[in-house]
Amino acid sequence: HHTGGGGLAALAHLNSVRDMFALNAADSAGAAAVVDDGAEVEEEEREVASDTFRSTALISSREQYAAMYRRSVEDPDFFWAEIASAFYWKTKWETRDGNKIHSENIDVRKARVAIEWFKGGRTNICYNALDRHVEAGKGGKIAFLWEGNDPGVDDKLTYKELLERVCQLANYLRDQGVKKGDAVAIYMPMLLELPIAMLACARIGAVHSVVFAGFSAEALSQRILDCKPNFVLTTSGVRRGSKVIKLKEIVDDALERVLKEGFAVGTCLTYANDSAVKREDTAWQEGRDVWWQDVVPKYPKESAVEWVDAEDTLFLLYTSGSTGKPKGVLHTTGGYMVYTATTFKYAFDYHDDDIYWCTADCGWITGHSYLTYGPLLNGATVVVFEGVPNYPDAGRCWEIVDKYKVTIFYTAPTAIRSLMRSGDEPVKRRSRKSLRVLGSVGEPINPSAWRWYYDVVGDARCPISDTWWQTETGGFMITPLPGAWPLKPGSATLPFFGVQPAIVDENGHEISGVCSGYLCIKAAWPGMMRTLQGDHARYETTYFAPFKGFYFSGDGCRRDEDGYYWLTGRVDDVINVSGHRIGTAEVESALVSHPQCAEAAVVGFDHEIKGQGIYAFVTLLEGVDYSEQLRASLINAVRTHIGAFAAPDKIHWAPGLPKTRSGKIMRRILRKIAANQLDELGDISTLADPGVVDQLIDLRDK
Ligand code: WT7
Repeated sequence: HHTGGGGLAALAHLNSVRDMFALNAADSAGAAAVVDDGAEVEEEEREVASDTFRSTALISSREQYAAMYRRSVEDPDFFWAEIASAFYWKTKWETRDGNKIHSENIDVRKARVAIEWFKGGRTNICYNALDRHVEAGKGGKIAFLWEGNDPGVDDKLTYKELLERVCQLANYLRDQGVKKGDAVAIYMPMLLELPIAMLACARIGAVHSVVFAGFSAEALSQRILDCKPNFVLTTSGVRRGSKVIKLKEIVDDALERVLKEGFAVGTCLTYANDSAVKREDTAWQEGRDVWWQDVVPKYPKESAVEWVDAEDTLFLLYTSGSTGKPKGVLHTTGGYMVYTATTFKYAFDYHDDDIYWCTADCGWITGHSYLTYGPLLNGATVVVFEGVPNYPDAGRCWEIVDKYKVTIFYTAPTAIRSLMRSGDEPVKRRSRKSLRVLGSVGEPINPSAWRWYYDVVGDARCPISDTWWQTETGGFMITPLPGAWPLKPGSATLPFFGVQPAIVDENGHEISGVCSGYLCIKAAWPGMMRTLQGDHARYETTYFAPFKGFYFSGDGCRRDEDGYYWLTGRVDDVINVSGHRIGTAEVESALVSHPQCAEAAVVGFDHEIKGQGIYAFVTLLEGVDYSEQLRASLINAVRTHIGAFAAPDKIHWAPGLPKTRSGKIMRRILRKIAANQLDELGDISTLADPGVVDQLIDLRDK
């Protein structure tokens, strides 16, 4: 048995499941109403895939799954070796102690946390995603169908053409001295050049670090300073909906900031996206800046593959945690390759003739694993959309579905809820009869949005794969396999092959049967991150120290009588706004950087469209008066430090904040005030000054 919960020992005073959902010592009840959906469980609906669907499904019964699942956890090495054999390996992986192809230690008490899969095997993910298909005679198949921001603007690339584009860029980068292991930063919108850039890096063994093009110059500069790339790839600008964004200006600003910190980026390779921002309207620094179109097309369309070890780094992707500094999640090559390909195939029941559309941006993990690598490794045809779901109108998605005869559509609950608001008509106007499978990702999907997605978008015909996973997990962890078992609206259902979830209580003990608690994972899986860039200690303390012997996800979870998992949201200081992960500490530090802000405390609150919104309590310096102008400039501070997507929805003036006598802010109380649940504030007698609570309530709508 485990000996207690380490950092969670401070939570000893917690005595009910509901009260345990917070990892802050001073908080006795945590984020969102994580276990409040009990009522919905009572009258649980189920949806079973049709016989027609099941007749062609890769996995068509829970029994078939159970047999495979059992093999995957009883002998993971054998299970994954068999799957990995379908990929091309220049050199086969090492086996040790008999048939072991992986080694792991995820128990911080024993030794350093270390995970390896297919070590010694040499491969290349770009080769497996592109060359392998071309060499098998599938070069003429469409790899990417690109749909521009404005209807009527589109493009496409076959596997052969995509490979040629990737090779040209790979040759250019190599020629410019980019070597295996070097980091390359990519700050681009959803042009095909973005996945091309990722694949080109992978081809030469360089480590890509894509930064979502909605991050501010400061956020970009922080990420550049952390991984020190000599190359930054960007675009003159982009049109998103009716807006034009000058991305190169943001990069220029970021590069100046890093220069002040003593680091110089050698080259800024800029793709001229003339339809948004023309070359002549783009500021230029000779010597550093290079137009992509001036150099890349001159390079040969074939390029040697850099064979890398399965455990060589493929990419870094920064994500938010409970503290201020973003974490550089590091993924390696072999396990990630095998895992993203396999999860993609089974969770979407992928068949060769499918047309797959994932609405995610490559700036997030979904765009890495399920827009680029997973689908291309399967030789799929992928729709890439530059725009936004409601431009020019709320029917755009279904217009695109019909245009390309999309069969698998993967999006986020926030998009579903926002489209749902425009009613059924824009959906029903289009046929959508090509659709076969729907997917959801990024946050728990509320049952009413699930129903609308299922009934209206999918005409009660298409199973929904509600995929639970994280930047850190690399790929799906808990997800339906469409056709294999009944779906329940709002549940991600059952674990993927090789994934062993454990629900753990506040003392670090695994609990069984029907229960609620912290979601942990018991053993390593191939797609798991290996470390945090430059900070293995933080990797261990964040993910492996809270519950010893387990990987801790940061999510709350319930398991029902059928063994289905119900994700209930983050239990740490991370909030999930429209599927974008934001650390409250990052927003707070942006706010307190404002010269007139003395202190800030940020919490999440339920938001009809975004899932969660950002609610900021702000204390101003003595003598400063609250004003609308100040409110706007505080919000602007967050836009500059992080990006517009992290702008607070609400600023609540707070002459004082509820603190314990030891000075710790009691966020539990702030969450209740933000949610307007004023009769559920709980015990406030431990506050240093209980009077601040009434004061805050009085100021709620000011
Ligand atoms: C967090 C991870 C995974 C790609 C996109 C987000 C939440 C994600 C689900 C889901 C309930 C979900 C969790 C998780 N989450 N998918 N299907 N049901 N919650 O990746 O930015 O790393 O965020 O998103 O809270 O911890 P991310």
